[in-house]
Amino acid sequence: MKIDELFKVRDLVTIVTGGASGIGLACAQAMAANGAIVILFDIDAAGAQKAARDMAEAGGRVSAMMVDATDRAGLEAAMAGVSAAHGRIDVVFANAGISGGPGFLAMDGARNPAAAMESASPEVWERVLRVNILSVAATLAAAAPQMKKQGGGRIIVTSSVSATKTETHVATAYVASKGAVGQIVRQAALELAGYNINVNALAPGPTATNIAGGRLKDAAAQAGFGALAPMRRIAQPDDMQGAALFLASPASAFVTGVHIAVDGGLLLGRAD
Ligand SMILES: NC(=O)c1ccc[n+]([C@@H]2O[C@H](COP(=O)([O-])OP(=O)(O)OC[C@H]3O[C@@H](n4cnc5c(N)ncnc54)[C@H](O)[C@@H]3O)[C@@H](O)[C@H]2O)c1
Repeated sequence: MKIDELFKVRDLVTIVTGGASGIGLACAQAMAANGAIVILFDIDAAGAQKAARDMAEAGGRVSAMMVDATDRAGLEAAMAGVSAAHGRIDVVFANAGISGGPGFLAMDGARNPAAAMESASPEVWERVLRVNILSVAATLAAAAPQMKKQGGGRIIVTSSVSATKTETHVATAYVASKGAVGQIVRQAALELAGYNINVNALAPGPTATNIAGGRLKDAAAQAGFGALAPMRRIAQPDDMQGAALFLASPASAFVTGVHIAVDGGLLLGRAD
């Protein structure tokens, strides 16, 4: 098959939760630049409107809606609106997520008492588990009925390398939330395969986005996290676009339940 057909996303109706910034924005840009109809769902209404305007000015068909991805009823209403306007929902990126703060080691390797096990507040645990786990569960639940009705679809969840590895510089609540997300992806893929709905995960390593107050845009943090990866750098959001297009397009038609790590080899362990 020719690459134009294999990776074709033209006219696919695509929702991206957390699409105003970072990894979600990069996925939205890749889809829009290749002819998909993209709707950004984000709690940052102004940021989502601006991102949609920028992509529209570049020739994309992009709009934005203020939607909280943890709000099941809000998601259902917003997705019903998209289905009514476009007749279908082909691709959903369940991407919204938040940080739980730093890990028990500081970037210089010293212990970070402020992020020790006993310092993590129940409120932070609840917020991180709620946003990172329930947003994915609610997005899947809201998308599945329409995809079943139309005979198939693609759901791409932004998981993390933290779904499968332990972390020293990332809070345990976040690692626990992504571990759960990994199992949700596999469960959903198993349940929905018979409906021709593929559920897969993008598993980024550290990526320079606005997460955690933008700390991964800081040069020292980039050097520290980058040193852990065999390819010796952290990711830029654009690094996610190839895997996003693969998972949204016919190229991955027979792929479901997998995590695609985009991490410069981080999951392989330390090199030199
Ligand atoms: N940046 C990294 O190093 C990294 C690594 C692995 C996985 N991830 C995951 O990537 C995803 C995107 O994060 P990012 O790094 O691009 O962060 P980001 O902060 O740049 O973007 C996240 C976007 O999600 C939105 N958002 C947050 N909560 C929301 C909610 N309840 N409903 C709707 N929108 C919401 C924010 O407004 C923002 O626009 C998250 O799931 C994150 O856990 C990030």
